[in-house]
Amino acid sequence: MKLVYANLKMHFLKDEMQNYISSLTIYNKDNLVIFPSSLYLSMFKDKGYEVGSQDISFKERASLTGDLSVLQLKETGITYTLIGHSERRQYYNDSKYVHDKLNLALNNHLKIVLCIGETLEERKNNETITILRKEIDEAFLNINKESLSNVIIAYEPIWSIGSGIIPSTDEIKEITKEIKDYILNKYNVNIKVLYGGSVNLDNIDDLETISNLDGYLVGTASLDSLKFSELVNKIN
Ligand code: PGA
Repeated sequence: MKLVYANLKMHFLKDEMQNYISSLTIYNKDNLVIFPSSLYLSMFKDKGYEVGSQDISFKERASLTGDLSVLQLKETGITYTLIGHSERRQYYNDSKYVHDKLNLALNNHLKIVLCIGETLEERKNNETITILRKEIDEAFLNINKESLSNVIIAYEPIWSIGSGIIPSTDEIKEITKEIKDYILNKYNVNIKVLYGGSVNLDNIDDLETISNLDGYLVGTASLDSLKFSELVNKIN
């Protein structure tokens, strides 16, 4: 059974979120984690969904305007956090903080979805594997290897996010293998790898043929409750 992670980003006002939740018809919630706006985490928890935050501050307690502490987020019942999503790397310089955030999340016993991925230019220059390894090494530097079992990698090519374009299934399979082999050889951990970037009802059957993939991180296609329910039910 594959894992499904829904990244709702900053979508929905409170009423819309309520409607969204009440029209979800997911038969098996076991392998599903939802990452809503942090303001609405409790709404999902109350309905029996496992939830995660889309980010955490790189400090546990500090005077950092606008940040959310991992301790505050844990009080709302999160079990997961995303770290290093490309939108945060791009707009908030998050690559610089990924290592500290990962450390903090692990120390607080959260499970982590660490996002990595290359730009279109890097892909064209055949730098994909180099970039992915660099992002893994930056995140894992001096991290206690035992705790890495709580980390899942989401391979999200930046050019695929929100674009409707995805790599071929062969490419995703190959890159998934590269990531798993690299982490096993260097860090001695069998890591799970998700694919993210324009996953939707039209391509899920093809994606489901990729045998070494452990699941999906879904953005846009998680915003329509009916279609998203259909997607999750298909995967389960
Ligand atoms: P998308 O987003 O499914 O809209 O491409 C994925 C993500 O940003 O995690």
